[in-house]
Parts: sequence; C-alpha cells; structure tokens
Amino acid sequence: MTLTLTTAGESHGPALVAIVSGLPAGLRLDRDAIAADLRRRRQGYGRSPRQKLEEDEVAVLAGLRHGLTLGTPLALLVGNRDHANWEWGMSPWPMEGEATGKGTTPVTLPRPGHADLAGALKFGHDDVRNALERASARQTAVHVAAGAVAKALLAEIGIEVAGRVLEIGGADTESGWRKATDAARADRDTLGGVVEVVATGAPPGLGSYADRADRLDARLAAALMGIQAVKGVEIGDGFALARMHGSQAHDEIEPGLRRATNRAGGIEGGVTNGEPVVLRAAMKPLPTLMRPLRSVDLATGEPGEALVERSDVQAVEALAVVAEAAVGWELAQAAREKFGGDALVDFVGAHAAYLERIAWPRTP
Ligand SMILES: Cc1cc2nc3c(=O)[nH]c(=O)nc-3n(C[C@H](O)[C@H](O)[C@H](O)COP(=O)(O)O)c2cc1C
Repeated sequence: MTLTLTTAGESHGPALVAIVSGLPAGLRLDRDAIAADLRRRRQGYGRSPRQKLEEDEVAVLAGLRHGLTLGTPLALLVGNRDHANWEWGMSPWPMEGEATGKGTTPVTLPRPGHADLAGALKFGHDDVRNALERASARQTAVHVAAGAVAKALLAEIGIEVAGRVLEIGGADTESGWRKATDAARADRDTLGGVVEVVATGAPPGLGSYADRADRLDARLAAALMGIQAVKGVEIGDGFALARMHGSQAHDEIEPGLRRATNRAGGIEGGVTNGEPVVLRAAMKPLPTLMRPLRSVDLATGEPGEALVERSDVQAVEALAVVAEAAVGWELAQAAREKFGGDALVDFVGAHAAYLERIAWPRTP
C-alpha cells in the first residue's frame, strides 16, 4: 500500500487541484486543521499582498463522506481568487474580443534564478508566462493541503511533524528577520533563509536500506529539494559531521536502545532509528526582484531588465510550513508502506503489533 499525490494548476489559473490515493478508509479529517495550515502558509513578514487576497479554502470533491475518508481517491481543490484579475490572460480556452486584465502581454524577459529561461526553451514557449505559471510556488498550497491530510494519518500512530524558521537573510532572531526583511524591501531586493523540520514519535523501522530509492533520508531530501527555491538539505548534523571524528559524530546506544545525542537526525541506514527525525533546508533569495537583474529579451535578442511582478521579499516562514507538509507526506508514505491496511483500524493495529514485536518503547 502506498500513498500517491498528483497535483495540477497554474499560479493565476482558475484553481489548483490534488488527488491523494492510498489513504485508508475511516480516517477523520479536520476541516479547520487543513485550513489552519493553509493560513500559516500564507502568513509571514515578507509575503506579497497576494496572500491577503487568497483565502485558500479547500473544497473536497471526492473520497470523503461526513469527514471520514472512504479509502478511495481524495480530490482536493484550492481556488485562485486572483484569477478574477487574469480571466482573459489565463483563460483555458481562446478568448474573443479585446484582451483585458493581467497576463495579456507576453513575457519575454526571463528572470535569472527562476524557471523562465529554461522552461521557455525546453517547451518552446514564446511567452515565458507559459513556463512560470506552473513553476511558481503557488502550487505549494495544495501540497500543504495534502500534507495536512498526511499529518492527520500520522497523528493516528503518534507521529507529529513541526517546521520552524531558523534564519532569514542571515539573521537568527525574530527581530533580526524583520529588520533584514525591511531593509531588503527598502532596497527592492530579496532574501532567503533556513528552516528546520522535526518529526517526533516515529518508531524505528520506517524506510529501508534495500536500495537507494528506498532510503528514507534520500526520500526526505528529495521531498525538500522538490520545493521551489530550496538549494540545500541537511539531515541531523549534516555538513558539520564531515568535520568531526567518528568518536564525536555517532550517537551511542544506551539501555532502552535510546541515544543521548541525535547527530544522525533520527535516520541510520535510510531507516528511522526511533529518535526525532531532524532536517534542515536552505532557501535561496527569491528570484523576482523589484530592482530587476540583467536579462535578454527572447523576442528581440536585445539586453534588457528581467520581468518584475508582484512578489514576496522573502518566503522563509511559508517555507517552514511547506517543508513540514513535505516531510509529513514522506513519513506518511513510509508508514503506509510499512503498516498497510484498507481500513484505519488495520493500519493502527499493524503499527501496534509492530511496536509489540520490537518491544518499543523499551524501559532502560
Ligand atoms: C513558499 C514559497 C514562496 C515563493 N514566492 C516567490 C515569490 O514571490 N517570488 C519569486 O520570485 N519566487 C518565489 N519563490 C521561489 C520560486 O518559486 C523559485 O525560485 C522558482 O520556481 C525557481 O525554482 P528554483 O529556485 O528551485 O530553481 C517561492 C518559493 C516558495 C517555496
């Protein structure tokens, strides 16, 4: 049994959609909990005014009845309110009459750091908008909705996942983040940062060392690296381990099979070891600058300045929520693989039986 996620939707199109397959039947979903995660994603000091416009209400179109999953594909929809301003420009069908609203003039000046140039060349688009609309991190709204569903499943077996900001623009205090964001905004520049995600309650044994694609560390790293603008991922002490001796780097095993330290970040051999799973992700500064970088007009070949459109100064707080959803999703997938079950009681029962077999948690 495995969980799968398929999503679609452009940033200024009518809506974003997600189909989640492989959930057990009988899982209770909480509308407010999903809405709360979407709200958290929209918030943050450096976000653009678009976040105030979007309400990100999730409509469930299939797979749920009276709040309980049916064990059939769950279909989620998050509308784009902003589409009202782009109705002509982002219409799925050819429009008649005079072009009005946003998105009606082709974009030909790709932004360095965005998918604009590579996407336009790859797909043969004359209008860079055809690439950037899907590359945009707007799609993370449905990933967060799917992550909320995954976290509901994990909660049934006592696993909790939480993301938080560690750094924004090199600053590591909340007042520092604000100062750095204000300064970048005034400078018409952008910032990046670092987030951390910690998952507690995972038993030893999620993931596998059987092949490289099975390793949970590899899967979690891919999930985080799959988020727009994430350029580095670290598990446990990550890069710092490279500068330690083995005697300092590894987490000694104590009675009760617990560790006094957790430099491995809860994963050894691609498998959870019972300690908290700890990951960090580094986000680069956002590519849309209000003081645009040099570019080349794809229509004329002439030098010019990159596209400027409404954009965040930094989105690190939002990344913490998106990263939490991504880690939740991967852990839920690994848990589905390990514990299976068509009905939630089967899943929870298999988890309980496994804990009994390995006598976990153990008393020292
Ligand atoms: C939550 C979130 C919000 C983002 N908001 C913006 C934004 O407002 N402007 C921007 O230029 N990039 C933004 N990005 C980053 C771009 O989507 C990303 O840099 C782009 O798709 C190119 O992908 P890459 O950076 O992974 O190469 C955001 C990323 C995330 C995760």
